[in-house]
Amino acid sequence: MKLFLAPIQGMTTTNYRNQYANIFGGIDAYYAPFLETTNMSKMDHSIIKDILPENNNDINVTPQLLGNNGPDFNFFAKTLVDFGYKEINWNIGCPFPMVTNKKKGSGILPYPDMIKEFLDVVCKNNSYNLSVKMRLGLISIEEGIRVIDILNDYPISNVIIHGRTGKQKYSGTVDLDSFETLYLSSKHEVTYNGDIFSHEDFKMIQTRFPTINHFMLGRGALKDPFLASRIKGIHISHNEKIEKIKEFHNSIYSYYKNTLSGDKHLLDKMKEFWMYSSIHLDSNGKYFKKIKKCNTVASYLQIVNQMLNSSNTWADSL
Ligand SMILES: Cc1cc2nc3c(=O)[nH]c(=O)nc-3n(C[C@H](O)[C@H](O)[C@H](O)COP(=O)(O)O)c2cc1C
Repeated sequence: MKLFLAPIQGMTTTNYRNQYANIFGGIDAYYAPFLETTNMSKMDHSIIKDILPENNNDINVTPQLLGNNGPDFNFFAKTLVDFGYKEINWNIGCPFPMVTNKKKGSGILPYPDMIKEFLDVVCKNNSYNLSVKMRLGLISIEEGIRVIDILNDYPISNVIIHGRTGKQKYSGTVDLDSFETLYLSSKHEVTYNGDIFSHEDFKMIQTRFPTINHFMLGRGALKDPFLASRIKGIHISHNEKIEKIKEFHNSIYSYYKNTLSGDKHLLDKMKEFWMYSSIHLDSNGKYFKKIKKCNTVASYLQIVNQMLNSSNTWADSL
């Protein structure tokens, strides 16, 4: 059984992935947030800095590309293969209108001919494994069923399916019946993704799909960074957990303090960090409300210290 960390744009970037692996572990592979493929002349260092090999050497990272143009994808893929990556993931799941309006991400799912044309170009290159991360469809599952049929004709190493449509974005719950339909139609290895927030959620999914061996954890693993190790049966004491979360926060904070310009950017980033992390650590949201209101680094640090040192808050949730 393998556990993957889902890509979360803006959060699970290089430093986050490395610190996460170092401090919490439990994850077998880390999928990096998407890089949008562009006209080749526009590719520069800043676009690819998240997946530069010197920053990603110690853990198993899979880069992800978002695009619908085969030659541009091949150009980026060549750079990634030269960096030493063995798998490249194609994002056909992103639900945001800025992306879907361009027929990228889940916006390409209603266009089977575009998908075939893309794969005809990209699958000529066999120097790496192509995996796919998709949703049930943009609007309906019929789109997803057609896409799975197409993928079945190409050498895809892994199909990661998030059980929502693009139109749903993150609302409602995952549709396990529709996921099952796509899973059973796929000839390829399928990875389950969506709404695993607790060990109980994981056990429920595993019981329902006993032949699935790969699971991708997203928001649940950010909220509870011990989720992956718990699923793998690793016990970590309460005090050790507290120390690890402190260490993680401090390393993320120092990284952004050193790389972002100005307190406003630093505070915005740390508010985003707590938006994904706080529910588990601050179950009633009391501290997060205060963090959101912070205008100075001093007030931010004061509240975070109060939260990190309030072991009663943690005792219930960890
Ligand atoms: C803010 C945000 C950014 C995301 N960025 C990406 C991304 O870059 N690439 C991608 O394939 N999925 C992205 N996702 C989707 C997640 O990888 C994952 O599929 C989704 O959150 C469902 O899994 P979960 O319920 O375990 O969180 C993003 C999700 C969120 C909330």
